[in-house]
Amino acid sequence: MGSVTFVALLLCLSTASVVVRAEDPYLFFEWNITYGTISPLGVPQQAILINGEFPGPNINSTGNNNIVVNVFNHLDEPFLLTWHGVQHRKNSWQDGTLGTMCPILPGTNYTYHFQVKDQIGSYFYYPTTSVHKAAGAFGGLRVNSRLLIPVPFADPADDYTVMIGDWYTKGHKSLKKLLDAGRSIGRPDGILINGKNGKVGQVDKPLFTMEAGKTYRYRVCNVGMRTSLNFRIQGHTMKLVEIEGSHTMQNVYDSLDIHVAQCASVLVTADREPKDYYMVASSRFMKQPLSSVAVISYANGKGPAAPELPAPPPENSEGIMWSINQYRSFRWNLTASAARPNPQGSYHYGKINITRTIKLVNTRTQVDGKLKFAINGVSHVDPTTPVKLSEYFGLAEKEFKYDLMGDEPPAENSKVVFAPNVLNATFRNFVEIIFENHEKTIQTWHLDGYSFFPVAIEPGRWSPEKRKNYNLLDIVSRHTIQVYPNSWAAIMTTLDNAGMWSLRSTMAERYYLGQQLYISVLSPNKSLRDELILREGDLVALIVFIVHGYIKGSKTMEMHDSN
Ligand SMILES: *[C@@H]1O[C@H](CO)[C@@H](O)[C@H](O)[C@H]1NC(C)=O
Ligand SMILES: *[C@@H]1O[C@H](CO)[C@@H](O)[C@H](O)[C@H]1NC(C)=O
Ligand SMILES: *[C@@H]1O[C@H](CO)[C@@H](O)[C@H](O)[C@H]1NC(C)=O
Ligand SMILES: *[C@@H]1O[C@H](CO)[C@@H](O)[C@H](O)[C@H]1NC(C)=O
Ligand SMILES: *[C@@H]1O[C@H](CO)[C@@H](O)[C@H](O)[C@H]1NC(C)=O
Ligand SMILES: *[C@@H]1O[C@H](CO)[C@@H](O)[C@H](O)[C@H]1NC(C)=O
Ligand SMILES: *[C@@H]1O[C@H](CO)[C@@H](O)[C@H](O)[C@H]1NC(C)=O
Repeated sequence: MGSVTFVALLLCLSTASVVVRAEDPYLFFEWNITYGTISPLGVPQQAILINGEFPGPNINSTGNNNIVVNVFNHLDEPFLLTWHGVQHRKNSWQDGTLGTMCPILPGTNYTYHFQVKDQIGSYFYYPTTSVHKAAGAFGGLRVNSRLLIPVPFADPADDYTVMIGDWYTKGHKSLKKLLDAGRSIGRPDGILINGKNGKVGQVDKPLFTMEAGKTYRYRVCNVGMRTSLNFRIQGHTMKLVEIEGSHTMQNVYDSLDIHVAQCASVLVTADREPKDYYMVASSRFMKQPLSSVAVISYANGKGPAAPELPAPPPENSEGIMWSINQYRSFRWNLTASAARPNPQGSYHYGKINITRTIKLVNTRTQVDGKLKFAINGVSHVDPTTPVKLSEYFGLAEKEFKYDLMGDEPPAENSKVVFAPNVLNATFRNFVEIIFENHEKTIQTWHLDGYSFFPVAIEPGRWSPEKRKNYNLLDIVSRHTIQVYPNSWAAIMTTLDNAGMWSLRSTMAERYYLGQQLYISVLSPNKSLRDELILREGDLVALIVFIVHGYIKGSKTMEMHDSN
């Protein structure tokens, strides 16, 4: 970053100080981020706690609430949280990725300020900096319906958040060292359910309690690093009601595949013999499977959970077809008024003409003996100044090049480019994005700022003729989608949310080593109607960040190394 940038930022201080506030209720939080020691797999390790908790506290909000979270970074490294799946309409400033915000420096605090619109459903937050996700600092985020918006099922007796995910005993600093040295973090050491690993016969306390005859909502999110999981409850079926902010047709399942960074809500009725039951989260598509159990008790129930766990779904190619078929069975409830995919968007996505098709191929490569990941030949590197801020101050050309990556993958074996990967997109375009996975492992992708329609997932390679297989009627709108080995997935969305939005692999290792990009959606009008202006507080944070960078030298900022 040159001194030109620095001067320009100071000059802009006086102009960009408009604070926009809506007259909706506020929820205030103060979070202390600290290190702590935990041993979920029996090995003591350094974790990142929020107000002393692991996992972090749940945020329970209602549509249109303004959420204000003052985050105090007591770590010795920069830190940032993202609100996974929260659309931040017109407000990518609060998205919590290194392309939109400066990280919160050690010993400082930063106040997030965002509004959850009527995207009623289940979300979570987690850290995007370094490999912090491996240390915790994640937690649930609910958006409840405002009373005037009906929900297509009766109020459950209670509402439980279940965070499932793989876990590494190495600690995030060691994992980061491995990645910086160009090595893989390898396979995880176990699975956790709400921060604990449970083994059959060795769980002392129930995680949840149900009263006989009543129905409960379980919001299940995969908060892990890389592993797709299957979730099931002994003796009970699950009625699927919501996926990532969309109300689904209420089909009944014995088990659900939940891929990295996906969430789903199910209703479970306590209609069995009153005793304990195991809830199971087990790895998918992994040679030596891992799993964890937790106990659900019936109030006044008698007897421990039976040791026989419900069987997992098939593995290998049969398991992939099983999983694809399950994805296809998820249908959007077109008559439910609540849980909108996108408050301003269209329900009739099948009738909109595609204005742009972007085909993305993920690659895993070795460059000078070091492991790297790329999308269409570009391995993203975060510049010191967030790309959104460079763009906002008209300094984009100095910091990065738009459209380094094409809409089509380059020829195989092309040289990988290491640079900020920023796509210039046209406001309100209706885009189709194809994720084509030529690798032998499952991938999971997420787009910030939007909910999209994952119209198809199929084995093989994509071609325009495949469009005839798209579900253009009632696929469930969501924000995170899996792509099976040697398969593709197609998503569609209207780029009607102006801002700089991260599209990324949700797998921590791939994300850290370059498998991410930003989509810059600028409204030509540059009006407040289309995009909020940078807040004064954000500007101050930016200046503190840059001054700090000047003093320490930008290379010491603990950001991604470029090679
Ligand atoms: C955060 O830590 C400070 C001391 O550093 C303490 O005064 C404050 O009460 C803590 N806040 C919460 C919510 O724990
Ligand atoms: C969450 O918020 C809703 C709506 O305000 C309320 O009914 C519910 O009791 C809250 N749940 C918890 C666990 O605080
Ligand atoms: C830091 O916390 C203080 C005390 O709560 C608050 O007044 C200030 O606005 C916060 N600073 C930022 C940048 O959020
Ligand atoms: C869809 O939503 C409507 C309206 O809320 C509800 O009456 C209906 O039961 C739901 N259908 C299914 C299959 O979930
Ligand atoms: C979509 O494209 C077709 C053919 O180019 C055209 O006839 C139709 O009017 C377009 N529809 C919309 C909604 O723009
Ligand atoms: C981005 O694309 C728009 C047209 O969609 C064009 O007007 C604009 O100049 C482009 N911006 C850059 C920085 O390439
Ligand atoms: C820009 O603003 C004008 C007037 O408010 C409006 O008519 C036009 O549709 C806007 N353009 C876009 C691309 O939003």
